[in-house]
Amino acid sequence: MLNEQGIWIGQSSERAAVLLPQMANRHGLIAGATGTGKTVTTRLLAEGFSELGIPVFLADVKGDLSGLARAGGQSETVSERARRLGLDPLTPDAYPVTFWDVYQKTGIPLRATVADVGPILLARMLDLNETQAGVLSIAFRIADENGWALLDLADLRTMLAHVAAERGEIQLRYGNVSPSSVGAIQRRLLQLEDQGGELFFGEPMLQLEDLLATDRDGRGRIHILDAVELARQPLLYSTLLLWMLSELYENLPEVGDLTKPRLVLFFDEAHLLFTGTDGDLLERITQVIRLIRSKGVGIFFATQNPRDIPDAVAAQLGNRIQHALRAWTPAEMRAVSAAADSFRANPAFSTQEVITTLETGEALISLLDADGVPTVVERCLVLPPASSLELLDPQERLRLVVADPLYDRYADTIDPESAHEILTARIEEAEAAAAEAEEAAVRQKQEREEARLATIEKREAAREEREARREKEKKYGWLTRMSNSAVSAIGREIGRNLVRGVLGGFKKK
Ligand SMILES: Nc1ncnc2c1ncn2[C@@H]1O[C@H](COP(=O)(O)OP(=O)(O)OP(=O)(O)O)[C@@H](O)[C@H]1O
Ligand SMILES: [Mg+2]
Repeated sequence: MLNEQGIWIGQSSERAAVLLPQMANRHGLIAGATGTGKTVTTRLLAEGFSELGIPVFLADVKGDLSGLARAGGQSETVSERARRLGLDPLTPDAYPVTFWDVYQKTGIPLRATVADVGPILLARMLDLNETQAGVLSIAFRIADENGWALLDLADLRTMLAHVAAERGEIQLRYGNVSPSSVGAIQRRLLQLEDQGGELFFGEPMLQLEDLLATDRDGRGRIHILDAVELARQPLLYSTLLLWMLSELYENLPEVGDLTKPRLVLFFDEAHLLFTGTDGDLLERITQVIRLIRSKGVGIFFATQNPRDIPDAVAAQLGNRIQHALRAWTPAEMRAVSAAADSFRANPAFSTQEVITTLETGEALISLLDADGVPTVVERCLVLPPASSLELLDPQERLRLVVADPLYDRYADTIDPESAHEILTARIEEAEAAAAEAEEAAVRQKQEREEARLATIEKREAAREEREARREKEKKYGWLTRMSNSAVSAIGREIGRNLVRGVLGGFKKK
């Protein structure tokens, strides 16, 4: 819900907690134990941003956000809360929602290309060691240099097969490529495929302008990514979110501090983003989060334990909403104390004590004021949402998906000519050439053999002829000799006739 300053989130006994739109790019944190109200708070912020004409992207890990598309009924909890806040009657409202789903069941397919995700995120996603990561980046470089597009996993697999096949030559130029590394990457890729990677990687890839567009009625569109199944593949889930972050960071122009952000992202189960990120990658992520501010993007992280978020990132989260935490174990007590320390203290109460006693839908809130200074922490009752807390039924959701203006653009996979096709064609060509050469060789050999046989035959025939002649000579040598002498004695003409006669006429006799 909006008031004249911004998004009205909650109310303390003293004042309203209002998120100023010009401070939304200073990021935020929504923390609290399970069932304490994080998702409803998230929804409330999303509603507010939408009303301000700011598009929002939400990762829906529990699958409980679809009701944003429908006006809230007056459920008892909601009306009771509205009454307590003096908001009776609360005006229900529905919001423009686009549903996305990597698995292509409950939303518009959300895809990215392999090349766009890039070797660094992919290496983390596939949990590669340094050597394997090196081989992967060589494959990317070669694809780049040759203009072979790496779009889907088939492209990457074929590319790696090419690298393995041409290893000798590639090693001279790019460095070591061991077949075992290639094999390890290929195996990981197969696993990734089983986890839905095959659906995520490809074209048409999500276009940022589709996230940034405002709805016709001037409201910001609320993009909900179904992350129920996705979050069970934490590396795929976090890769997707980190890819989106870097995509926004790389492509949006520098705009400094705007009166309101261009886009706000909500990352639920935020700790998943940071698991398995080593020093270098974490540093890059931290930097992107810091710098994306001046590109007009705000990020809100939701998590159960605020300590799951690395300090360098947590330090950049200016707007803080802390729901209840439990404090039974020493570890939990440390978490409570750390959470309390991150707030600007309110002399009226002990933050640490209050954190463990908050009711559902109650929170400790400290937001940045117009000067960017955190307000003193207040214990607030969070407002009820205007949209429905109930889920859309699957049919209703599907109707919205199909009617979505973005549906046609992303519904079908397209498979343009990319590395897989090019390399496969090259391999086929090479195979055809090899087959032809082999055929020619066989043909040549056959010809040689035929020629050899023909020579033998000829020689044999000559030999037979010679033998026959010798035989004849033995039998009729006297005749020949005689004819020879006859030639000399009787003359050429007669001799010839005689000889001829001896050779032919004799038979006739
Ligand atoms: N501001 C609120 N207005 C009305 N009801 C609320 C509010 N906050 C919480 N509730 C009620 O409490 C329930 C639990 O809240 P919510 O789903 O936000 O918890 P959560 O912290 O997201 O839990 P989880 O960690 O399990 O996701 C909601 O379904 C709703 O009924
Ligand atoms: Mg939740």
